[in-house]
Amino acid sequence: MAGQGAPPLAMALQLRYPGVMTTLTIRRPDDWHLHLRDGAVLRAVLPETSRHFARAIVMPNLVPPVVTLDDAMAYRERILAALPAGADFQPLMTLYLTETTDPAEMARAAASGVVKAVKLYPAGATTNSTSGVRDLDRVMPVLEAMARVGLPLCIHGEVTDPAVDIFDREAVFLDSVLAPLRRRLPDLRVVLEHVTTADGVAFVREAGPGLAATITTHHLILNRNHILAGGIRPHYYCLPVAKRESHRLALRQAATSGDRKFFLGTDSAPHVDALKEQACGCAGCFTATNTLSLLAHVFEEEGALDRLEGFTSRHGPAFYGLAANTATLRLEKRAEPCHWPAKIMTDAGPVTVFNPGFPVHWHVAT
Ligand code: DOR
Ligand code: ZN
Repeated sequence: MAGQGAPPLAMALQLRYPGVMTTLTIRRPDDWHLHLRDGAVLRAVLPETSRHFARAIVMPNLVPPVVTLDDAMAYRERILAALPAGADFQPLMTLYLTETTDPAEMARAAASGVVKAVKLYPAGATTNSTSGVRDLDRVMPVLEAMARVGLPLCIHGEVTDPAVDIFDREAVFLDSVLAPLRRRLPDLRVVLEHVTTADGVAFVREAGPGLAATITTHHLILNRNHILAGGIRPHYYCLPVAKRESHRLALRQAATSGDRKFFLGTDSAPHVDALKEQACGCAGCFTATNTLSLLAHVFEEEGALDRLEGFTSRHGPAFYGLAANTATLRLEKRAEPCHWPAKIMTDAGPVTVFNPGFPVHWHVAT
C-alpha cells in the first residue's frame, strides 16, 4: 500500500538548547474528518484548514445531505471554487448513507476517485443526521457493495436510544452495533470516528487491521468537567460529548502511542455563535485554526513529539491506501504564546475558535 513501510520522513529535530526540542518538521498533515459546510461558512472556514492541511475527508452532513456521486462532485467543485488562490488542498469526498442509498452507487463512487468513504450517521445521533440510518439491516446491501469495492465506512459510533445515558452511547454502540457488524462483514473497512472512550480505544486495538479510529484535537484536551463545571461552556459541547478524565487519558495514550490504527480527524465543526450560544446549542468545536499547535502541545506533554508525524500525516494515508504528503510543515516552540483570532468572521455570523484555556507555544512557522 502506498505510503506504508516508507522510512520515516526526515524528522528534523533541532536542538537549540540541550535536551529541549524547539523545532519540529513533519510531513504536511491531513484531516481525516472535517466539516466545511457550504456557502458563506465554507468560504470563511476553508482557508483555516487549507493553510496547514494538504487533504481532508469532508463530511457530507449538509442540508440536504451529500448522498449521490453527483452531489459529491458538485460539492467538491464548490469547495475548490472557495479555496484561496494558490492553496494546495485536496478535498476527499464522502457520501451520506441513507436507507435508500443505491448499492450500485458504491462501485461508481469508488471508481470516480472523488469519493473516498461513506459516512454512517445513526438517525438522530447528531447535527443533520435525520436522513441517517435507523435499521442497519436496510443498508446491508450497500455495505456489502462497499466491502466488495474497498470503500471504507466512517461511523458516528453512538446509539440513539433515549434510554441510554449520553455518556454511555459510544460504549453501548461498540457492543450492540459495531461488534455484530464486524462479525457480519469482516471485509468492510471501518473508521470509528472521533473515538471518545477507553472502551473504544480497546475495541480498535483488539480488532484486525480493517478497523481504525480517528481522534479529535479537542477530545485530547477536554473532559466533561470542562463543559459543565463552573458554568456551561457551549463552545466545548460536541458529539460524541467529552467523557470523564480517565477516557481523555486513554485517548492521549492511543494518539501518542505510535499505533497506526489511530490518526487525526479533527471533526472541526463550525457553527455560528448564534447557534452555539442559545437555549439548545448545536454540537461542534471549531479547531481548524489552531489544531496543529494544540497537538504539538499535547504530544510534548506526553513526551511523544517524535510520534506527532505518524498521527497527523502517516497513519491516515496508510489506512486509506494513499501516499503520505511529501511537502512539509514546520512547528517552532517560542517563548511568546500563540495568538489566534478568537472568532472567524463569516457572512452568516462569527464562528468561535476553540480556546484550550491554557497558553500554547508551538507556532506553525510561516
Ligand atoms: O460535534 C459534532 N458536530 N459532532 C458531530 O457528529 C457533527 C458535528 C457537526 O456537524 O456539527
Ligand atoms: Zn463530525
